[in-house]
Amino acid sequence: MHLSNRIPLLITLAMSLISAPSFAQDLSEAAVAKRIAPVGSVYLDGGIVTAQQSTVADEPAGPRTGEKIYNTYCVACHATGAAGAPLKGNVQAWQPRIAQGKNILIKHATEGFNAMPARGTCADCSDDEIAATVEFLIQGI
Ligand code: HEC
Repeated sequence: MHLSNRIPLLITLAMSLISAPSFAQDLSEAAVAKRIAPVGSVYLDGGIVTAQQSTVADEPAGPRTGEKIYNTYCVACHATGAAGAPLKGNVQAWQPRIAQGKNILIKHATEGFNAMPARGTCADCSDDEIAATVEFLIQGI
């Protein structure tokens, strides 16, 4: 018998070996509920609030808005002109910068540029968050 003739047989054999244990598992509702029970219940023992839980409770999930980040980090310079920062809403200051292309603005905001600090001092801002903040900063120009 040629080897290629045996392949379907081998596949059938292999499949029966793979699927056999799953038939043996207890699929009763109670057994399934026990298997998928949340691991987190361990943390609730004794009412101890872990650092992980409080972080989850305080921080909303997902990225922060550009507006929120601007008002937290960028406003110190871009609303005052500190360190020579171009003011938000100043068309004259922003037009030649925007003319470089938005990607350059985002690159400079992310990596830093002269007196402009990297990520505008928001060390834990993601690249997407910085890009959204640049959009907010130049909005309306
Ligand atoms: C410590 C002050 C300071 C903070 C905080 C700051 N910037 Fe700046 N930023 C500057 C200065 C100064 C410049 C001008 C740099 C230059 O052109 O030499 C600048 C320039 C920029 C530019 C223009 C870059 C270019 O290519 O012309 C962008 C975009 C920018 N900042 C975004 C941000 C964002 C977004 C934040 C907050 C996440 C932020 N900045 C926070 C000081 C600051």
